[in-house]
Amino acid sequence: MNNSVDIQPLEPHQAAAVARIHQLSQEGTFLTSLGHAFLTLLYKEMSLSRQCLAFVALLDDEVIGFITGTLSTGEMFKEIALKRPFQLTWLVFKRALTRPSVLWQAAQTFAYPGQANHTLPEAELLSLAVDPRWRNRHIGGRLIVHLHQMVQRAGVSQITVTVDAANEGALRFYRRYKYRHAVTTTLYGRPMEHLVLDMSGHDD
Ligand SMILES: CC(C)(COP(=O)(O)OP(=O)(O)OC[C@H]1O[C@@H](n2cnc3c(N)ncnc32)[C@H](O)[C@@H]1OP(=O)(O)O)[C@@H](O)C(=O)NCCC(=O)NCCS
Repeated sequence: MNNSVDIQPLEPHQAAAVARIHQLSQEGTFLTSLGHAFLTLLYKEMSLSRQCLAFVALLDDEVIGFITGTLSTGEMFKEIALKRPFQLTWLVFKRALTRPSVLWQAAQTFAYPGQANHTLPEAELLSLAVDPRWRNRHIGGRLIVHLHQMVQRAGVSQITVTVDAANEGALRFYRRYKYRHAVTTTLYGRPMEHLVLDMSGHDD
């Protein structure tokens, strides 16, 4: 099965499928709480952004997993927020009518790139998820290796990822790809692990 799975750049028309997998895979997180319309717009803009590296795993044209990253989180947020300020803000406020806490979380997210520890690399793995029906078949592994290759191709050798400290499966996954603990911070009131991978000296 794995041989028939293709890794391709994310295209705008696949944004809704990616948003659906995101929602299934990251229940209870801030971005998921913003809803399907917000996530679809976000992934569509990421697919169009020059600052973003975004790929999908396709099985017979069906999106079954995705990964996104950037060489600079701050620049990418800025590009997308400046391009779609009203649409994104409107979707957040619409959501806040039924879940007021999203406003506080949105403020933290907005401040997050600036807060990030200056010792962390600028390149960042932003999101990675595989449709629950297709997990444990090395699709996540192929997606992460592909992202690493694209980052290295851009001449960058270090990348960081932020993982909820309670997400033991994901922490195990990243350690397997040689990510090492750098620092623990708090985001949305929860401990977050910032991991760093140094790719200088190996090819993954
Ligand atoms: C992490 C994830 C992308 C891995 O995808 P995958 O295709 O199953 O990965 P692979 O088959 O290449 O590797 C399997 C490894 O994933 C990790 N994993 C397994 N179940 C997991 C889960 N529920 N949540 C997170 N990671 C998990 C484990 O390290 C597992 O190996 P192990 O069971 O031998 O320890 C996938 O489990 C997922 O979508 N999880 C939910 C979203 C998430 O936590 N993303 C990472 C935070 S950004």
